[in-house]
Amino acid sequence: MKASQPLLCRAVSSIRPMTRTTWMSKRRSISIVPPPWRPASVLDKWVEREARPISLRQLTFFGRLLTDTRLLGSANYVRLELPTRIAHRLRDMQTLPYAALVNPHISHVYELYYSAFEKLRKVPEIKTLEDNDRFCDVVREQLRDHLSVIPRLAMGVLEISEAIPSDQCDKLVNSLLRSRISRRVIAEQHCALTKAYHSPDHLPPAAKLHPEHGDEFVGEIFLRCNAKEIVQDCADTISDLARQAYGSDVALPEVVIQGAEDIFFPYIPSHLEYIIGELLRNSFQATVERHGHKPPPIEVLICEAAQHVIIRVSDQGGGIDREGLPNLWSFSKGPERNRRLRNLEQVPKLAATLQDLKVPDSESSDELHDQRQTRFDHSLGSLSGRHPDLRLGIGLPMSRIFAEYWAGSLEIHNLEGYGVDAFLQISKLGNKNETLSTRTSMDA
Ligand code: COI
Repeated sequence: MKASQPLLCRAVSSIRPMTRTTWMSKRRSISIVPPPWRPASVLDKWVEREARPISLRQLTFFGRLLTDTRLLGSANYVRLELPTRIAHRLRDMQTLPYAALVNPHISHVYELYYSAFEKLRKVPEIKTLEDNDRFCDVVREQLRDHLSVIPRLAMGVLEISEAIPSDQCDKLVNSLLRSRISRRVIAEQHCALTKAYHSPDHLPPAAKLHPEHGDEFVGEIFLRCNAKEIVQDCADTISDLARQAYGSDVALPEVVIQGAEDIFFPYIPSHLEYIIGELLRNSFQATVERHGHKPPPIEVLICEAAQHVIIRVSDQGGGIDREGLPNLWSFSKGPERNRRLRNLEQVPKLAATLQDLKVPDSESSDELHDQRQTRFDHSLGSLSGRHPDLRLGIGLPMSRIFAEYWAGSLEIHNLEGYGVDAFLQISKLGNKNETLSTRTSMDA
């Protein structure tokens, strides 16, 4: 293997067991008996470690009672968790078929991860607040460097989907994205706690003071998320977006929100905004394109159960074509992907995600820039320079990953020829661990 070959290909060649022929030829030339298998690598050692999942409640509890010792505890948790979680995903990528490994987008992602793994695993134990500040600089740099991961993966999957079975592709993307959310959550939470701890307003052990939202935030977690407010905000933003996309002559559907208004629960708002934004965007697009001048309303019902908040989004946009249904949750074969494969130039009108609209404004103050960047970084649309019209077509499967991440669920009920009912279930107690295991698009 030449040094110029992508790291991933070199890595894979180095993990292959020796065949009898290579063994014999090596014996002839170097006359020492090679081991039957390669020696354990640094990566192997990290892959042996299990990730330690955490719940919203634990993250909140930790952040509320912050002291030097707890902040250093959080730093060392993140210091070990990040390289562990990355190592597992690197190993997954190493098992991909060669045709996928050589794809430039996939190997770019691999190399990003490998370099992050190398940097993070070398950080020594964090013993002082100064060590922690240096660690946060490294973490923030990684958060920035990885902004291109999702669009790169989405493009890579599109390109390799002919070469490898779609369930294998989907399984890989699912676990990469889920793991990415998990790493960004713990990394961003730790950086936010560190920032709040250094703030002059900090009154230990009171709740962390979020720079923007007072003491209702603990790091990135908003303790008083209200489903109705989030749906209303998303509806307003999507209406603006639709107005720009379709022009002022087209009538837009009204979003009617009913049900429980005063439920408050701890959540990371950008996760919920992502999901609701995607559901509403799909509903707007289908309704406008089916009904023209008199679009029926999109109805959102919010219900409260003992452990969950359930949000149903119902539209009359005509439902999903029978042929698109089996691939609804697929990253490699979704309906949007199929369309784009057929005509890569054709771009749907209502394409931007909510997060595309939150591209940080370079003229804003550093503080505001940081806050926007943090929220934006959670999101799908974080390809610097991506045109907001370029829809990657992975909004629905990505939304399900966000929903399941904190032990929720997302289901689509298709009323063919009439419309769609989307059911989003959110765990409202915050006591469920993050879901790190993966599912394939074949699972119901
Ligand atoms: C990612 O965004 O993909 C990451 O893994 C970020 C992490 C290294 C802080």
